[in-house]
Amino acid sequence: MTITKAPIDRGRFSNKTVFIMAAIGSAVGLGNIWRFPYVAYEGGGGAFILPYLVALLVAGIPLLLLDYAIGHSQRGSAPLSFARLSRKLEFIGWWQVAICVVISVYYAAILAWSVQYVGFSFSQAWGDDPEAFFFTDFLRATEGEVTLDFVPAVLIPMAIVWIVAIAVMALGVQKGIGATSVIFIPVLLIAFGALVVQALSLPGAIDGLQTLFAPNWGALLVPAVWASAFGQIFFSLSVGFGIMITYASYVGRKVDMTGSAFVVGFANSGFELLAGIGVFSALGFLAQASGAAVADVVANGIGLAFIAFPAIISQAPFGALLGMLFFVSLVLAGFTSLISILEVVISAVRDKLELGRVTATLAVTVPMALVSILLFSTTSGILVLDIADYFINRFGILLVALVAMVAVAWAIRRVPSLAAHMSRYGSIKLGRWWVVLVMAVTPVLIAFMLVLEVVTAVSEPYGGYPTWMLAVFGWGAAGAALLIGILLSIPKWKATTPLEAPEHDEVVIR
Ligand code: ALA
Repeated sequence: MTITKAPIDRGRFSNKTVFIMAAIGSAVGLGNIWRFPYVAYEGGGGAFILPYLVALLVAGIPLLLLDYAIGHSQRGSAPLSFARLSRKLEFIGWWQVAICVVISVYYAAILAWSVQYVGFSFSQAWGDDPEAFFFTDFLRATEGEVTLDFVPAVLIPMAIVWIVAIAVMALGVQKGIGATSVIFIPVLLIAFGALVVQALSLPGAIDGLQTLFAPNWGALLVPAVWASAFGQIFFSLSVGFGIMITYASYVGRKVDMTGSAFVVGFANSGFELLAGIGVFSALGFLAQASGAAVADVVANGIGLAFIAFPAIISQAPFGALLGMLFFVSLVLAGFTSLISILEVVISAVRDKLELGRVTATLAVTVPMALVSILLFSTTSGILVLDIADYFINRFGILLVALVAMVAVAWAIRRVPSLAAHMSRYGSIKLGRWWVVLVMAVTPVLIAFMLVLEVVTAVSEPYGGYPTWMLAVFGWGAAGAALLIGILLSIPKWKATTPLEAPEHDEVVIR
């Protein structure tokens, strides 16, 4: 066997289990815990299972398989993998890198809040008004104006989150990302499993579940419900923005990648379902305790985690335990996602500049940490975060996924050869069904969703924010990601970086 030596040792996962744990770690994140339950409830409850399953099977898993195929066959970061497919497509990889920069700077902030709230759960620091506490006392949020006053209660945990993340990233693919995921994911399952059991035992839990699962079949006629199912699957499964390309490039040639994609896809959805049960049981309790209907206490994202949950914790028996389990779960799930998002950026810079692991980690993460802290530990952090999150999900992730699919399928016509690559060692063969999905069905569906999202964003400006804020932190951030992607793809690769995928692993891993 010829041994092709890569110019730098890019690192690798030591076996399939570590890779699957890392991929599940990336997929299972804040999106599963605080976004899915609400999206499912809003999208028709029990009836949402239909658009959700269609989105998972028709777009989520096929796109996950495409990401795996690109990374695993080209053995590079997102930009290097796309450059190896065609130099003209390299910008897609850098666009994904830029999107990951945006997501990680705000994701770290939410983790930092969650770290603080683990402690707050014991003292119930929010008193009897969790909302006022969160915005006024904790974040010291301003309304509609941007200021740069630091908030120490946010700054300190943010610094801690970044220092730990930087340490993990510096340790590399196996010892850092792999080892963290192998430890965190089982602990997360235990912690969240315990939370679900405790939530189910609360009075009113059953009303919460009935509210979540009662099917509203009429919702299936609303296009926006389908769009939200696709949006949920993409963000939640971590597909389309470079993560799974990067992780797959660290996996041995003979590993069953197709089987792994189904394991990761179903594990992620299983966790979402569990989150729905836990969250709605707790909301059912909150409704009963406050004499309201479940529909009146339902919340999403920041409102769910930092306003509704504190109210539940204050009133539930063993509330401190419930709070600790909830916020520790957010930290564990969020951290394993954050490191996967950071790896997209680090690995791209490593490949392009042929830097060592530690040098690349520091070069990338220290400036990101500073920007993140500067933006989000100040009094206007939450406004910027909310806007950037909304826009980058829609006009970053969805759009880049569409462009990547169309480019690979139609501009360079590589889908059949990628299918052959995946089928070689895959336990599930990627036959015509996958080729048709990736070349036609999925791109058409994503394009349709995007049109809907653009119409919504233009006709109902998001969140009632001032136009200039939406322009800068929303459209601006999403547009800048594309522009930066194009600019970063201009410099040439080093002469020592092969622009063909190496034919063999240096080590064959099973
Ligand atoms: N997939 C990650 C999440 O769900 C990014 O939060």
